Amino acid sequence: MPRHVTIIMDGNGRWARQQGQQRLFGHNAGVDSVRDCCEYAAETGIEYLSLFAFSSENWNRPEDEVSGLMKLMFKSVLGERETFRKNNIRFRIIGDRARLAPDLLAEIVKLEDETASNSRMTLIVMLSYSGKWDITQAASRYAADVAEAVRAGKEVPALDDNVFASYLSTAGIPDPDLMIRTSGEQRISNYMLWQCAYTEFYFTDVLWPDFRRTDFARALEAYCSRDRRYGKIK
Ligand code: IPE
Ligand code: IPE
Ligand code: MG
Repeated sequence: MPRHVTIIMDGNGRWARQQGQQRLFGHNAGVDSVRDCCEYAAETGIEYLSLFAFSSENWNRPEDEVSGLMKLMFKSVLGERETFRKNNIRFRIIGDRARLAPDLLAEIVKLEDETASNSRMTLIVMLSYSGKWDITQAASRYAADVAEAVRAGKEVPALDDNVFASYLSTAGIPDPDLMIRTSGEQRISNYMLWQCAYTEFYFTDVLWPDFRRTDFARALEAYCSRDRRYGKIK
């Protein structure tokens, strides 16, 4: 069983178009998939489920779609309290918080605090996130620590994989074992570039609003048959 599963939830817009609806209709429908997958992941003993909800590049979408997505996020943060309480799930957001509206951020922080001691599973919503942003912010924070150490005449922190990872926004979270992407696209779209170094990828044509626990189970089954070698010989 993977410890950490991450999902690039893609295909909401195409799903909506298939129904003859606006794109936001698809985003709304996607919330039901999130709930089902979240409950299923908790039931199966997955420790971390992270969901790519909004990328740094998604800010470049038309304003009404961006504001609709942010409203939906606000509504979900308020509305899913019971799901987290009932399932003993810890909620976290990872991404560039500086770009989020203050009222949304306040609700997020409130929910993070409320669920901080929930221990069955951690749900991480990647919001205003991109892999390059993450690596860049880590590099600049490391540079600041080096400058501070030099200024104070202290030892400069040596850099290796583990030290660098501790500056990433995902510090303390194990790298994803399995990455699922829905909607048939087979690319990483600037997602966890560092963290996916040895992640197993699973691509499915199912559009995100149609994705349910049965589809999730199929991905887990595929994962179980993979041979993870990490460059070694078995
Ligand atoms: C994924 O669905 C959700 C977000 C990126 C916010 P899309 O909105 O990308 O849907 P498609 O890919 O256009 O179908
Ligand atoms: C990736 O989907 C981002 C999220 C699912 C949040 P996109 O729909 O933005 O990715 P591209 O543009 O097809 O690569
Ligand atoms: Mg898409």
